[in-house]
Formats: sequence, structure tokens, C-alpha cells
Amino acid sequence: MNNKPIIIANWKCNPTNTKDAEYLFNTIRDELRGIKNVKVVICPPFIYLPRLMGFIPIQKKNKSNGIAFGAQDCFWEEKGAYTGEISPLELKNLGCEYVIVGHSERRNYLKETDSMINKKINSALRSRLKPILCVGEEARDDFNSEGRLSNEMSLIVGEQIEKCLSGISAGRIRDIVIAYEPIWAIGSGNVCSPDDTMKAALFIRKILSKLYNRSIAEKAEIIYGGSVVSGNAIEYIKDARMDGLLIGGASLNATEFVKIVKKVVEIGV
Ligand code: PGA
Repeated sequence: MNNKPIIIANWKCNPTNTKDAEYLFNTIRDELRGIKNVKVVICPPFIYLPRLMGFIPIQKKNKSNGIAFGAQDCFWEEKGAYTGEISPLELKNLGCEYVIVGHSERRNYLKETDSMINKKINSALRSRLKPILCVGEEARDDFNSEGRLSNEMSLIVGEQIEKCLSGISAGRIRDIVIAYEPIWAIGSGNVCSPDDTMKAALFIRKILSKLYNRSIAEKAEIIYGGSVVSGNAIEYIKDARMDGLLIGGASLNATEFVKIVKKVVEIGV
């Protein structure tokens, strides 16, 4: 663990109205008031961002122990004739600190490719937004007919990291969070074991070491996402030694999300 743990809430396409978004956010904010030694990032749908940001006093927005905001995606150009897109510069100017890129749902439903994600990372960094790069394999590692382990995870994750970080300089890796999110574990209740999660994180560090150097690999912020709930969150921080968590479903329940954050703070890593 390099920094204090980072807990990211990915609300995805939820909730469906501003009132519910405000209620969810305000409950989380009130329950976590004054919480230290953890970084909490809320990533709501774009449309709620300006409104929810208004519920935090301006001077606190950028303080490290306040709640930070992130977007769930961005475009790769700063501005121009790109109907429907939202640029990293617009998000930065709004007060966002983070942006999720390459989430498997975008790769799947919107056909985002590693090269598009690479452009988004470059552009986000240029606008001083911190990208949260999601990587992960589709199926659990399995044994093939000859009894050998088929390297789904290492092949897929390795390729995603290499392509998504292509051309990104060593100095920028500290501004990127890498989220290991095995697709089979997302929203399925089938969590990746802490052991396998740790193996995946070590593998990602090995790739970073090859692409950059050992010190950069060791310092990289690597988090886990996939069916995290209050009952298993600690395992990923304590046993799998992850730098944080990316939480989907459980982040839509304020009580559950707050419980996760408080448990992570309690173990005091
Ligand atoms: P989940 O989603 O926690 O609902 O599995 C995680 C994610 O997609 O980021």
C-alpha cells in the first residue's frame, strides 16, 4: 500500500432522478464527515455532477480528506464538433479529479478499444485529470484439455495494459489508478479470491516493471473491483494488499458503501 486507500463509487447509470442522487450523495457525505486516512471518490452519471458538487463547500472540494468527484468516462478531444461527448477539460474545469476509462461495460456495449482508451488516458492527463484505467479478463482462468492452466488473465490484462498505456511516460504512471476488474466478477456475486487478486496485481506490477521500471511498478496504485460488499471488502485491502476498491452495486446503497469505507479505515493500513 503506497498511499491511503482509495474507495471509488461507480454509480453507473443510476439513480434515475436527481432527488435520489442527492439523497444518496448527502447520506454518504454526512456519514463520512471528517473521515480521514481514506480517499473517497464518487463517480455519478455526468448530469448529476454539478449539482452534487454544490453540496460540498468550494474550499473543501480539493482537500484530500473531502469527497472527490470523478466521471465515468470522457472523450479524447478537448472541445469541438463532437456531438454528445464530454471532454476531460470540461470535467476538470467543473472540479472533477478523476475519470474512469475503459470500464468493461463500455468496452462491451460501446465497443471501446484499447486504442480509444489510450487516447482518453492521454487527454485526461493533459487536462490534469487522474484516469482510473479498468482492465480485466472475461472468464475465470481455467485448465485446458491437457490439464494446463490457460492464461486468460495474464494474456488479456497484459495486452490491455500495454496498449492502453502505450506512449504514456513513466512520470505519469503515478497519476493513474489501475483497477483490476475481472469481468466475470462484476455484478455477479462471484468474487475473485484475495489470492487470485493479489496474483493479478503482482502480474500488473510485472508488466509495469517491463514497460517502465521496478520502482514505478512498485509505487503504482492498483485497486480491485468486482462484487465488493461490506462483508468482503477488507480481504482485498488486508490480504490481497490492494491500494483500494472500485465499487459498483454496493455504492448505490449508502449504508453499505459507508460501512465499506469505515471498515477500511478501521483496519488502518
Ligand atoms: P460491482 O461493479 O461492484 O457491481 O461488481 C464493479 C464495477 O463495475 O466497477
